Amino acid sequence: MSTPFTGPAITLTDDLAAATDALVVGVYSAAGDGASITLDGGVPEAARGPVAEALALLGAEGKAGEAVRIATPAGSGLGATTVLGVGLGAEESVTPEAVRRAAGVAARALEGVAAAATTLSSIDLAAAVEGAILGAYRFAEFRTTSAPKKATLGALALLSAPASEALAEEVRGTVEQARLTAGAVALARDFVNTPPNVLSPGEFADRAQRLGTDAGLEVEVFDEEYLDANGYGGIVGVGKGSSRPPRLVRLRHVSGVDGAKHVALVGKGITFDTGGISIKPAAGMEQMTSDMGGAAAVIATVILAAQLGLPVDVTATVPMAENMPSHTAQRPGDVLTQYPGAGKGGITVEVINTDAEGRLILADAMVRACEDEPDYLIDTATLTGAQMVALGTRTPGVMGTDDFRDRVAELSRSVGENGWAMPFPEELRADINSRVADLANVSPNRWGGMLTAGVYLKEFVADGVQWAHIDVAGPAFNTGGPFGYITKGGTGVPVRTMLAVLRDIAQRG
Ligand code: BES
Ligand code: ZN
Ligand code: MN
Repeated sequence: MSTPFTGPAITLTDDLAAATDALVVGVYSAAGDGASITLDGGVPEAARGPVAEALALLGAEGKAGEAVRIATPAGSGLGATTVLGVGLGAEESVTPEAVRRAAGVAARALEGVAAAATTLSSIDLAAAVEGAILGAYRFAEFRTTSAPKKATLGALALLSAPASEALAEEVRGTVEQARLTAGAVALARDFVNTPPNVLSPGEFADRAQRLGTDAGLEVEVFDEEYLDANGYGGIVGVGKGSSRPPRLVRLRHVSGVDGAKHVALVGKGITFDTGGISIKPAAGMEQMTSDMGGAAAVIATVILAAQLGLPVDVTATVPMAENMPSHTAQRPGDVLTQYPGAGKGGITVEVINTDAEGRLILADAMVRACEDEPDYLIDTATLTGAQMVALGTRTPGVMGTDDFRDRVAELSRSVGENGWAMPFPEELRADINSRVADLANVSPNRWGGMLTAGVYLKEFVADGVQWAHIDVAGPAFNTGGPFGYITKGGTGVPVRTMLAVLRDIAQRG
């Protein structure tokens, strides 16, 4: 395990005349025909005209994703040797997410730069911090001869001129929370980016235990013998094809607040998904190293809840297994029994396709999570290729009980993670009836596969629990080039969605 990624050293400044290598400014697109670009409100009056003019000369239009760097115009009064303009779109519709993305673009453009300052913080401080740290993220633990030649941006000073000591204190708190949030997203990315030969279920559990304990969580790790003896048929069934046995990890943040709501989190932790005996085609199979993205996000989120001291109780229940084909693997046609805990447990399942393994390990964990009688249950998983067919690679599908599903999807959009509410059409339920058991793990009908997986999980949610299921098959792993603050590989989605939900529950119940 390498040292955790921390990103540029973040400081606050009220002095843009101080010497630095680059000043990052936000660029708004022109408001109308013939109008010119404008700069964010943090840029000092004397610099606005000359900097905007020079940026425009080099083609800056203020479009999202754009980065234009100039030598600082003489007489502008700025201490930076260069100015980097990053696009924000139209000023009247600027969002925190636009700032987060622009800060990410800036961090990537400033590779190799020792120290920069930015005025983006004058629009949204937390978004500027999160975007800069996450845009600078990289994962180089396994590089030797191909190690990156340039260091990531070394330090970033954020423009902030609080009028009083009380406000200054608030500003420092905002920066610290944003830094911790970005750190949690980076941790989830690290887990996803760690290759599957290294991150076995046992290793994953050990790392979760170490990090959780360090953060002050109560942590329990259950091994394959415990799981077998206690009827976790889904986790055992999926894990038994691998020489590296499965685990169940439980991490608990106890807020100590009287009457605090209790939120259960569950995340799919398949450390590698070959498909099992229903083996996947070779092309692209290496991407199944990301099949523990849900578990990674859930572990990072419960650690973050403790670090932020959120006034809500959070229990993460995380099943971990490797889905392999072998002479000990489960077969298509096998019948297993899901965890028989209180509530909706003990359901028998005909495993028709061993590649629909996520729902099998999640069902056990969800029944276990519901035994604690939580107020809310959020599960998240790289569950179905059908998620990407329905919504593309950057939009998580959110299912569950209607009100909570809509609340989670809306909060997800508010933090730029784009969750979208999806239905459970009633006709899908009959498709997972089995010839021999209570349920089949797949439907003979190939349409609406993301929804069918959700309908399967619904069978395991205790009555009265408000539930949201977030399918992040595409959004958890970026197979394309970097954009905004999203780098290649693990993205850390949906850590910030779950954080937003925890905060909202802490505030509104
Ligand atoms: N881990 C996969 C889903 C997945 C696919 C995630 C692509 C990320 C990218 C999951 O275990 C799986 O194999 N699902 C099957 C379900 C099918 C057998 C009903 C799928 O989507 O094909
Ligand atoms: Zn899978
Ligand atoms: Mn699978």
